[in-house]
Amino acid sequence: MKLTNRDLVTIDDLSNPEIKGLFSLADEMADATSEQYGVCKGKIMASLFFEPSTRTRLSFEAAMHRLGGRVISAVDIGSTSLAKDESIADMARVVGAYADIIVIRHPWEGAARVVADYAGIPTINAGDGGHEHPTQTLCDLYTIRKERGTLRGLKIALWGDLKHGRTVHSLIYALARFGATILFCPGRGLELPEHVLKRLDTEYKGELRRYDNREQEPDSKLFPIDAVYMTPTSPHQLAMLPDISLRVELKEGVDALYVTRLQRERQAPASDQKELGKRYPVVDRRLLKGQGFEKTLVMHPLPRVDELACEVDSDPRSMYFKQAAYGMPVRMALLSLLLGTKEVALPEGHRSFAKKVQYPVYKRDSAVKCSNAKCVSNQATETKYIKPEFRVVSNKPVTLRCTYCDHELRPGYVASAEWHQGKLENKKYHRADSHWARKIKPENLIVFASEEEAQAKQFRPGHYSR
Ligand code: NCD
Repeated sequence: MKLTNRDLVTIDDLSNPEIKGLFSLADEMADATSEQYGVCKGKIMASLFFEPSTRTRLSFEAAMHRLGGRVISAVDIGSTSLAKDESIADMARVVGAYADIIVIRHPWEGAARVVADYAGIPTINAGDGGHEHPTQTLCDLYTIRKERGTLRGLKIALWGDLKHGRTVHSLIYALARFGATILFCPGRGLELPEHVLKRLDTEYKGELRRYDNREQEPDSKLFPIDAVYMTPTSPHQLAMLPDISLRVELKEGVDALYVTRLQRERQAPASDQKELGKRYPVVDRRLLKGQGFEKTLVMHPLPRVDELACEVDSDPRSMYFKQAAYGMPVRMALLSLLLGTKEVALPEGHRSFAKKVQYPVYKRDSAVKCSNAKCVSNQATETKYIKPEFRVVSNKPVTLRCTYCDHELRPGYVASAEWHQGKLENKKYHRADSHWARKIKPENLIVFASEEEAQAKQFRPGHYSR
């Protein structure tokens, strides 16, 4: 298996066999760290961290040093020309000429995609705002696989800030692909974003069940589960009788509890941080004494604040420092594969490329913009060259997904390029949720942000415009 010159922007850039191949190389490198010196000799990694980082940056840099490569770095936007309003694309082109591989962390969602598009060298997303953090997911999966031997059929609970935590977003997609059952345990008001739930539902073919803990008898209450996602490989009785069988299932135990901190830096400015902090769910010895946690791996991407009590550190179930330590061999394997200095054999019959669902791209000029204020496509320095770009993910109702940050939006009005065939009298627009809209083929779809935009483009109200 070769991954030469590939990017890792989202966890879906790697297929399951590729992840397994990477893990076998990481195993090899972990067993003989000092023998890897020379694998990336003469290569330069640019380490660009425009948000705080300890583990991710230092493990990437240590990995490159262990491989015999060199590192150039920028760790503060204020010390780069981005502070002079340089665009991300220009920075990427310049750094792409100095280095052989880029590792980027940036607060804007989709920033790593832009770097990958313009740098001309492999780009690794080390966290783009609240969007994704695929290399943390590799460390998480590697840890679970090391401890449990497999991911298939495991019950993994995700705990805390599921709304803003980028690590859980990447992890969820991977767990679904590897056939795990996911239990969602968010803090109040910190549930998974709608676009992540939608994607789970439409792309991974599993079943999502909401679970209302409050309606249960106090003595049969589970720990605070909000929803359960079952992949097709999970026991089907769980799907038929979600509440009762879930309780039965959980008695057999949760395999891993993945704790995350409240992402204070990503809360809306108006949110009451003190209140959120006060009611944030805590994992401590008492919780872990409960039924079902006897063999649970307690995981955390770190840094932790108050959500995971220090008393758990000495418990053999705690995995978080091991998880951080695995970051180095996993990133050594990733760097050497993307730089093409290492290859690994794939198990027989496995395709090496990622099997992504391919949605048609919406390419026409339109006033429709991504609805996410943190998306790179909405930033003043970037709009000069980035055109909002979407995939058409549904026509019932018409739904577009931003190529950069994955947020979904539903335009108000639509038309079909096929129907009017250039004739002015046939240029009609309709409401996007009308039954006309469903008939428009993606390649003919025209979307409008407003009726004013449709009319400015010489479309007239159709039968279903009201
Ligand atoms: C995480 C991150 O930066 O997203 N940390 C990490 O990379 N290990 C988690 C966090 O900051 O809460």
